[in-house]
Amino acid sequence: MGFSKDFAWGAATSSYQIEGAAEEGGKGTDIWDVFTKEPGRIAGGHTGDVACDHYHRFREDVAMMKEMGLKAYRFSVNWARVLPEGTGRVNEEGVRFYSDLIDALLEAGIEPYLTLYHWEMPYELYKRGGWMNPESVRWFGEYAKLAAERFSDRVRYFFTLNEPQCFVGLGYLRGEHAPGLKAPLRDVFEIAHNALKAHGYAVQMLRQYGKQPLVIGYAPTGSMCYPESEKEEDIEAARQMLFSIPENMDNWTWSVSWWSDPVILGEYPEEGMKQFEPYLPKITEKDMKLISEPIDIYGQNIYNGRCIRMGTDGRPEDTVRYEGFPKTAMSWPVTPECLYWGPKFLYERYRKPIYITENGMSCHDVVSVDGKVHDPNRIDFLARYLRELKKAAGEIEVGGYFQWSLMDNFEWASGYAERFGLIYVDYRTQKRIWKDSAYWYRDMIRTNGEEL
Ligand code: FCB
Repeated sequence: MGFSKDFAWGAATSSYQIEGAAEEGGKGTDIWDVFTKEPGRIAGGHTGDVACDHYHRFREDVAMMKEMGLKAYRFSVNWARVLPEGTGRVNEEGVRFYSDLIDALLEAGIEPYLTLYHWEMPYELYKRGGWMNPESVRWFGEYAKLAAERFSDRVRYFFTLNEPQCFVGLGYLRGEHAPGLKAPLRDVFEIAHNALKAHGYAVQMLRQYGKQPLVIGYAPTGSMCYPESEKEEDIEAARQMLFSIPENMDNWTWSVSWWSDPVILGEYPEEGMKQFEPYLPKITEKDMKLISEPIDIYGQNIYNGRCIRMGTDGRPEDTVRYEGFPKTAMSWPVTPECLYWGPKFLYERYRKPIYITENGMSCHDVVSVDGKVHDPNRIDFLARYLRELKKAAGEIEVGGYFQWSLMDNFEWASGYAERFGLIYVDYRTQKRIWKDSAYWYRDMIRTNGEEL
């Protein structure tokens, strides 16, 4: 029972959030480079220009991962670093950077998990319509082919898209993330459909050009649902709510089933097809076949969940959180149960080995008078969440867990104000300091979660 012997204990990051070197090494401009420069977009006017300077310090960072005993590391490639215009010309210097990173990881005994798209659309492609342009499917396929050709001799694990919910919802519907648009619903559904097709085409390219049998996954997000009690009707209510379609059209992108049913089951959920009907683009059988190109593992980013019970009217309903409910620095609720029920419900529906591709919390971390960073809240959070995941791992196939994040980094619209890392970064000096939770995580990995 509990975690398998080869469980992938990992940490995750993404390129724009840590690399810096925004205009170095032949990198092209991406949509976040542009978005962050627009006054008022990012808290404090912060940008990812320098971030954690990982581009120059990756060897030091890999050494820390090794010391922490990580078995796996999930990172993303910045599309514009390897293909500055998005298609065509390859930037060899950018390819070399990721290639060196991969070599360093393997040398340290750490399995690389490569994400293709963690939101860095090359600006040149955005100017041609980005995901709104049906050609984006081909563009993304070309990029996936390049990744397969250059990295898959050493990288076995690939994820296509990170959180389409976010990059489509926050980027194109609410305008809070790059590229900062508030597009009409009709366009947003088209964008979403193209992104899913791009995912499918990337899977095909990875398989076709992969230099070894690859393990390919997808990394969506979504708020999980868990039952108020162990009563069968509450469990059923949580299950139904998790896969239901949000009624509020400002929130529709936070759906789980709209983004995952097509990929795994080959169909958009019926309820959504009805509700969204006025906004949908033309959806063909051929599209659905492409979108559902078989993948091997199911990644899911999970941060929190909603507590659900069956209402007296026979419909699932949210329970009200008590006053003073635990929360993170970012005000996200602390709900460990989501790491048991989430994977279980997802596994029941999708039948693929589950990987928690992100989970973690932001804390008000400070360097204390003793020069250390004490983060008991994060240790408590991890212990509670991982205990739940351990329970799930005893019942269903859970392949790995990636802590978000290895180190503090650029938290999108919040800039550097939120600290999610196991490792503290002093942005003035780029000094890295292990937080107490990093030592805790190291010990937990050593014992494979035995003491949870
Ligand atoms: C997720 C993102 C990741 C990070 C965490 C806190 O939505 O995938 O980049 O910002 O949230």
